[in-house]
Amino acid sequence: MKVLFVCLGNICRSPMAEMILKEMVRQENIEGNFIISSCAISNEEEGNDIYPFAKKILLEHGIPVEKRKARQITQSDIEYYDYIIVMEQYQKNKILKDFFVIDELKVRKLNEKDVIDPWYSRNFDKAYQEIYDGCKNLLIAIKKSYEL
Ligand code: 4NP
Repeated sequence: MKVLFVCLGNICRSPMAEMILKEMVRQENIEGNFIISSCAISNEEEGNDIYPFAKKILLEHGIPVEKRKARQITQSDIEYYDYIIVMEQYQKNKILKDFFVIDELKVRKLNEKDVIDPWYSRNFDKAYQEIYDGCKNLLIAIKKSYEL
């Protein structure tokens, strides 16, 4: 299963989701079945590592954090990944507008409600909780459809 998380800048929410889901599949010893990554809708943070406050909240919850470089989504990502999981409706709309997406069902929101950007809200605790809950539900859904 190939899962790509998408947010605006790829330095807060989508890397948090990437690290959280990677830890969840490691905990269940099913990481060999997964390729998990993240990227941005914009190119504003291109090349930048995860934002320090996002890193801090992950470490506080015992989630390992890999060094990384923000990057913008491409057409090959759309074709390569099985699940393209966005944080806000805006990102879903933009992907469906800007790219050729054969299977629109693979572009989904993490939660019904948008995950508010902690870059602006400064509420990293709330973002962590929403992303954690979303990843938990996502993993249940993926496991169900692949009978893992
Ligand atoms: P993210 O947060 O989309 O959760 O990575 C943001 C980070 C940076 C910016 C916007 C959102 N920015 O405009 O630089």
